[in-house]
Amino acid sequence: MTDASEGETRPAILVTGATGFIGRALMAQLQRERRRLIALSRDGRQARAMFGPDVWVVESLDAIPSETRIDAMVHLAGARVLGLPWTAARRRTLLDSRVGVTQALLDLMRRLAQPPRVLVGASAVGYYGATPQSSSSEPLDETASPQAGQFQSALCSAIEHEAQRAEALGVRVVRLRFGVVFGRGDGAYPMLALGARLGLGAVLGSGRQPAPWVHVDDAVGLIRFALANDGLRGPVNAVAPDTPSQERLAKAMAASFGRGQWLRLPAAPLRWLAGEMADLLLAGQVVAPRAALAAGYVFQHPRLEPALGELARGGQSGG
Ligand SMILES: NC(=O)c1ccc[n+]([C@@H]2O[C@H](COP(=O)([O-])OP(=O)(O)OC[C@H]3O[C@@H](n4cnc5c(N)ncnc54)[C@H](OP(=O)(O)O)[C@@H]3O)[C@@H](O)[C@H]2O)c1
Repeated sequence: MTDASEGETRPAILVTGATGFIGRALMAQLQRERRRLIALSRDGRQARAMFGPDVWVVESLDAIPSETRIDAMVHLAGARVLGLPWTAARRRTLLDSRVGVTQALLDLMRRLAQPPRVLVGASAVGYYGATPQSSSSEPLDETASPQAGQFQSALCSAIEHEAQRAEALGVRVVRLRFGVVFGRGDGAYPMLALGARLGLGAVLGSGRQPAPWVHVDDAVGLIRFALANDGLRGPVNAVAPDTPSQERLAKAMAASFGRGQWLRLPAAPLRWLAGEMADLLLAGQVVAPRAALAAGYVFQHPRLEPALGELARGGQSGG
């Protein structure tokens, strides 16, 4: 199957995970700007239906000839972290689905007549592990260490380590450590919003744990900033500068729908139900977007309450 853009000579941006939540929002912007795009998807038919004939969809990177001009790669593919229980098999899938695609990207970079200028890869604030922090703790910046013995930290470290191997090929590598991405279409927000609308939003555990987040407009904004900004490399925290406590988040979410917030869910049953995965809900990190701000990135949605208000009103942005 060929696509309209396959024979083109303009340099392309290759996106993995293009059909996902962040990927779709990124692709929509790049398509509006008529950029040349290649999307990797396991389901080519579905991806072609999603993007139309202007995007060259491949099910395997082997389908890309060596002479193809690829200026940049954005790696967003990976099985969902929050959802199915973290059994040994699931942990392997979470790791292999990300690292395996990175390895295929590295193979492609080596094979291309000219390697790309930049690789922007998705990681997460889980890199810093589930430290016992409250929302008033000193913020962590990109120099903070991962936590030994914690799965989310080990997963992010492994993903980033693999991506960094592209540096040996002369590729600038930016590792975006996302907080929870809020947008209307997908991800955590629709469920949280539904709960809040029904008056079923809950404070989890003590509610004092930090809840790092970023609006999908800024998730995409930061990817684009990383693609365009030749001075930016290494880890970049992709979180809004305003980290609330989980209790403030729950209350603000309810307030954005004109509701009060009164339910509390104790930590013990959550831990019993979700095991180590409950750390994602019960033990966040206060993270500062130091590298992005230092490089001059201006957040479109820096503060929680206005961001949730905009999402609740359902304007044009928000994925
Ligand atoms: N959304 C968040 O709040 C958040 C927070 C922190 C970090 N991140 C990270 O940012 C990246 C993008 O997030 P997202 O929310 O856009 O992800 P998503 O909606 O879950 O989409 C990821 C894409 O990855 C592909 N994929 C799924 N399972 C796969 C597997 N087993 N093997 C290979 N590919 C697979 C799918 O594309 P095809 O079906 O087309 O192949 C899917 O569209 C992910 O790595 C995620 O962990 C996201």
